[in-house]
Amino acid sequence: MELLEAIRQRRAVRDYLPDAVDDITLDALLHAAVQAPSAVDSQPWRFVVVRRRAMLDRIAREAKAWRLRLEQSAELRVHLENPGFHVFYNAPALVVIAAVQESPWMVEDCSLAAQNLMLAACDKGLGSCWIGLAQDYLRSHAGRELLGIPEQWVPVAPIILGWPRAHVEGHGRREPQVRWIDEPR
Ligand SMILES: Cc1cc2nc3c(=O)[nH]c(=O)nc-3n(C[C@H](O)[C@H](O)[C@H](O)COP(=O)(O)O)c2cc1C
Repeated sequence: MELLEAIRQRRAVRDYLPDAVDDITLDALLHAAVQAPSAVDSQPWRFVVVRRRAMLDRIAREAKAWRLRLEQSAELRVHLENPGFHVFYNAPALVVIAAVQESPWMVEDCSLAAQNLMLAACDKGLGSCWIGLAQDYLRSHAGRELLGIPEQWVPVAPIILGWPRAHVEGHGRREPQVRWIDEPR
């Protein structure tokens, strides 16, 4: 797939087939992720990959309960209180991108890796979605312990992956709003 086509086609996918994401595909995505630029070439990203179904469901349950305790938005609370709402949408894989240590650019660096991963997923016909709702839990002591995330790693981007059940139509974007500063013509 052309890069610009992948950029246009990538959409948050929230409905997945149960089929596993194989090692070779995941390996290709992780190698795409690490091609991202990073401040002073620090390459601070580390990855936790979860494919064990029972573990995905447990993280989803605990992250949801954790978030519900903090959530201020009434709209989001309605979702979180719904017993049928799975924060990972039953996706068969989760990749948590974490920074190896606190740095002023860790969010930028790991977000760029996450975007590479999501675009590479799109190229392979996989769906993906960044799950911000799980971030607080993954950074908590309980979340770190459950996933075996080392003390010095800071989880930044939890990305779910899987084969989409259906094509997701994009809702389009507003036109770029730009203040141009050019040479006079
Ligand atoms: C930082 C971040 C956090 C997000 N958190 C969630 C989330 O917790 N749950 C969810 O369903 N989608 C989440 N999304 C996906 C966005 O809702 C989605 O990207 C946005 O609505 C635009 O839609 P598109 O990706 O299909 O173009 C998140 C996206 C980003 C970048």
